Amino acid sequence: MGPPGVGKTSLGKSIARALGRRFHRLSLGGVRDEAEIRGHRRTYVGALPGRIIQGIRRVGTRNPLFMLDEVDKLGIDFRGDPASALLEVLDPEQNHSFSDHYLGVTFDLSSVMFITTANLLDPVPPALKDRVEVITLPGYTHEDKLGIAKKHLLPKQVAEHGLGRGQVRILDSALKKIISSYTREAGVRNLEREIAALCRKVAKYVAEGGKEKQTIRASNLDQYLGPVKFYSELADHSKQPGVATGMAWTASGGEILFVESTRMPGNKELTLTGQLGDVMKESARAALSYIRSHAAQIGIDEDFFKKADIHIHVPAGAIPKDGPSAGITMVMSLISLLTVRPTRMKLAMTGEITLRGRVLPVGGIKEKVLAAHRAGIKIVIIPAKNEKDLEDVPPEVRKRIEFVAVDTIDDAVEAAFGQGIVKKQKNRKPPRGR
Ligand SMILES: Nc1ncnc2c1ncn2[C@@H]1O[C@H](COP(=O)(O)OP(=O)(O)OP(=O)(O)O)[C@@H](O)[C@H]1O
Ligand SMILES: [Mg+2]
Repeated sequence: MGPPGVGKTSLGKSIARALGRRFHRLSLGGVRDEAEIRGHRRTYVGALPGRIIQGIRRVGTRNPLFMLDEVDKLGIDFRGDPASALLEVLDPEQNHSFSDHYLGVTFDLSSVMFITTANLLDPVPPALKDRVEVITLPGYTHEDKLGIAKKHLLPKQVAEHGLGRGQVRILDSALKKIISSYTREAGVRNLEREIAALCRKVAKYVAEGGKEKQTIRASNLDQYLGPVKFYSELADHSKQPGVATGMAWTASGGEILFVESTRMPGNKELTLTGQLGDVMKESARAALSYIRSHAAQIGIDEDFFKKADIHIHVPAGAIPKDGPSAGITMVMSLISLLTVRPTRMKLAMTGEITLRGRVLPVGGIKEKVLAAHRAGIKIVIIPAKNEKDLEDVPPEVRKRIEFVAVDTIDDAVEAAFGQGIVKKQKNRKPPRGR
């Protein structure tokens, strides 16, 4: 399991090579018909064996490495459920007598090595998940990508474009800039595409009779690849009050996202935009309720919502977003707006909140931290219960980021705005009659 382009399919091929087995790949994306797996009965016109048996026939051995690619994209419709046919294929207790409708006799699949791949685990039926061991391939860091580009992608593309050593030289500085400013992904597929584009430009130059060796560095990269495609929005955003930076977890790895809020005269209305899912909308309401009930403690005028409307927007409005993990970001965005105080620079956060002011653990910490690192974040607020997940974060990233593990929203507020913002409960007179 892992985001696109992190090398799942390629890894399958490498395992087959290392084991000396034949390799067969079967893409399950969009397969909706059980007969694709198990075959048609021969009474049908144009009947065929299922794809498993066809694959075995093609490789010509009974112990190949069989890759069931994109198992999370299996479909279900009236023609049956291919996932349940796969249950039999993948179960080592049952697959020694796999029955294909076309063959009509059982076939022993028990010496086949099956590897399945998926971008997301959630769409995979639980019974199918239970039959496999899940290995997670997380996204690559910038350093990983640079290593992969230098060792594999660059030599491969240079050779594929028929270029020689004397014709092109791509410096590390150029590769680093491609990684940070021309691609934004967990894997290396776009990186490979950009490197291919560079090689094409050089190949064209050579084909037109150019004799000079082309040296590509960060400063002349735009002559080859055009203007920079991704800007870091960080500095611009974090100086304004009302904006807080969160971290999201998507199929393509982690991403940072901004939560913006604004207040206008009105009548106690909360508007939420940016294609937020139900869970995320609930987090926003919880964030507002928490602030209304703790206003005095944070130094906010208790009547702030009386003659006002509040609008919370999460930009990149066309991309659907959901999940509870932006709760803490919404709280910070609102506090920043209401106290007219920007959050600390280069700060990002994640965590679910409760109305009592606790911060609950969330998923995808590693991907989120990698994304924050890619975006140049220096301080990350995480729930205390997620501290153990930091072990999975590569040491070179852990070294460059300061982590603040928080148990309560109060701790998070101090981490985001500085010490002494929150008036601690014990220093405060107990509220009377309210
Ligand atoms: N660690 C790596 N070393 C060298 N090349 C890599 C590595 N990881 C990925 N690649 C390259 O990235 C490209 C995409 O890899 P691959 O197709 O295996 O990704 P994938 O994980 O199967 O993605 P998807 O989920 O989209 O199917 C390939 O060209 C592969 O050579
Ligand atoms: Mg793949």
